[in-house]
Amino acid sequence: MSVTGDIRPIDPSSVPQRRLYTGATMPAVGLGTFGSDAVGAAEVAAAVKGAAAIGYRHFDCASVYGNESAVGESLEAIVRGGVARKDLWVTSKVWNDKHEPEDVIASCRKSLADLRLDYLDLYLVHWPFPNYHPPGCDVSSRSPNAKPYIHADYMKTWRAMEELVDRKLVRHIGTSNMTVPKLKLVLRHARVKPAANEMELHPHFQQPELFRFVVENGIQPIGYCPLGSPGRPERDRTPEDTSPLDDPVIRAIAERHGVHPAAVCIKWAVQRGQTPIPFSVNPRNYAANLRAAAEDPLSDDEMEAIGRIDRNCRLIKGQVFLWKDGQSWEALWDAEGEITPP
Ligand SMILES: NC(=O)c1ccc[n+]([C@@H]2O[C@H](COP(=O)([O-])OP(=O)(O)OC[C@H]3O[C@@H](n4cnc5c(N)ncnc54)[C@H](OP(=O)(O)O)[C@@H]3O)[C@@H](O)[C@H]2O)c1
Repeated sequence: MSVTGDIRPIDPSSVPQRRLYTGATMPAVGLGTFGSDAVGAAEVAAAVKGAAAIGYRHFDCASVYGNESAVGESLEAIVRGGVARKDLWVTSKVWNDKHEPEDVIASCRKSLADLRLDYLDLYLVHWPFPNYHPPGCDVSSRSPNAKPYIHADYMKTWRAMEELVDRKLVRHIGTSNMTVPKLKLVLRHARVKPAANEMELHPHFQQPELFRFVVENGIQPIGYCPLGSPGRPERDRTPEDTSPLDDPVIRAIAERHGVHPAAVCIKWAVQRGQTPIPFSVNPRNYAANLRAAAEDPLSDDEMEAIGRIDRNCRLIKGQVFLWKDGQSWEALWDAEGEITPP
């Protein structure tokens, strides 16, 4: 971000693109649309419209964000305003209480209707656990029907996702919040391979092993919380959490480039190969994030220096998905290299 807050438009053709295994291209930075329970639908929808006006073409949506209908009004206006639908990249996600095959199809149709689109570019299984919990609930909340990852059940959901591709309602399907052992199984059994995996990625949580695995398997990593989610809800904070925006290495590089530390996080993400999806409703901030992806790259030395500040600091731990009393959140992430047994 320019320190003075430059909100001039950025030519979308100057934003790097990712080529997926299908040959389709995805803009290498997108706008997140999760208001973190604090930013309302109207404000997020206004940001979508504003962001498109300054050059964003990629929007990361989800039914659980509770704002797809408002975002859809903006998308409709963007297309009416002259941006071709084919030049937009819109992602949505099926929520955890809609994993039954018929629910997947219905949920996708609802997102399409809300977003005022005929097709989605990417549709993700938001979490690999079919556990309902009310939006905004505390991390100590547990569903009495909570289940672990059951691969056969996931594949039933995945078959419905594949059907969405067959019906041309979505161009690509993908996963989110997965681990290497879970993805290995999905890759073994999928008819339509995941095109992308959305995962937490920022300089303090680089997930090198999972990152390498998805890249080697032709799956595009999409990085959520690319700035370390400074606006995340209180329930998602623990005393151990650290902030990449406050890291001395990031701050020194930011100073050298005359930008905000957020811009350094975006540059690192784009140059490393993931697709960051920073959230912002502030025009100066979202403009700065797009500009960071398009201009003034980091040097190899700067990239290497950031590579060394990983703290394995997961911010979105997913506690509400735990299925057994006394479990720690690490069980959700298969830290031992195998799927945590039921
Ligand atoms: N798949 C999943 O399970 C999953 C999970 C979490 C998130 N996501 C997706 O990832 C997106 C991003 O994650 P996130 O929103 O948690 O975190 P984030 O993008 O790391 O951080 C967003 C916060 O940073 C601030 N910010 C943005 N640009 C800035 C800049 N240039 N300078 C200073 N501050 C800046 C924003 O405030 P202002 O609005 O004031 O700029 C906002 O508070 C979400 O919106 C959602 O689409 C997906």
